[in-house]
Amino acid sequence: MSLDALFTLFTGLPRQGPGSDESTLEALRRLPSPQKDALVLDIGCGTGRPTRVLARTLRTRVTGIDIHQPYLDELARAAAQEGLSEFVETRCRSMEALDYAPGSVDLIWSEGAIFVLGVAQALRRWKTLLRPGGLLVFTDVTWLEADPPAEAVAFFAQEYPAITTLEENRRLAECEGYEVLDAFSLPAADWYKEYYTPLRERIARLRPTLAAQPELAGVVASTEREMDLFDRFSAAYGYVFYLLRKPPLPGAA
Ligand SMILES: C[S@@+](CC[C@H](N)C(=O)[O-])C[C@H]1O[C@@H](n2cnc3c(N)ncnc32)[C@H](O)[C@@H]1O
Repeated sequence: MSLDALFTLFTGLPRQGPGSDESTLEALRRLPSPQKDALVLDIGCGTGRPTRVLARTLRTRVTGIDIHQPYLDELARAAAQEGLSEFVETRCRSMEALDYAPGSVDLIWSEGAIFVLGVAQALRRWKTLLRPGGLLVFTDVTWLEADPPAEAVAFFAQEYPAITTLEENRRLAECEGYEVLDAFSLPAADWYKEYYTPLRERIARLRPTLAAQPELAGVVASTEREMDLFDRFSAAYGYVFYLLRKPPLPGAA
């Protein structure tokens, strides 16, 4: 899939994946508070709605990391408008090439982006970056039913074969040496209000230009297939927030 076409479709939208400020806040409420001056990363931050919620709530510096500079520019602009510039930093960098010192990061946040590395790979790599007791919070698409409909299974076999259940991700996290502090499903409204609804409006505006842009037309067609599937099978799968901790050193609080 063409990255340029993807960015054409998504740049300027409120979010680039399912989520809401309320769900980000709910995840934060379920965590122990990070210490002052914590090193906090939002990996695959896009235009950074979660980054700004973290900065606003924690009042500590949050670094939004993404490979697409225009998303980061939008994040920096929105943070400045809100008076949050001192708390929001951006870095245009791939999550595959993070250069933080091992054991230095207090909190890694990643909504809707962990699929880029794959959950297993990300759990392994990011644990090295976290300090003992450090937190990893991410969302990922997850089967919510034990026996999902065949059409949804066939779709994900093509688009995201690594999709699994909450229990399986919990086991994976524990095998990688994390404590699973909590996990909860995002409401279906988190897919529509700030994601699919603006995306559908964007597609309607782009539709007259698609005949001349075959790559964009391909991205639009596959996005519409994805949205149609969720309209029909939202009980079978959804986004889940996973709240993990790298165990503290023995004797530490
Ligand atoms: C589904 S969007 C989620 C964006 C944001 N976290 C949100 O919840 O709205 C995935 C993001 O990952 C970014 N991304 C893709 N590959 C990446 C990589 N290798 N390193 C860093 N970010 C990447 C994309 O540019 C995009 O902004």
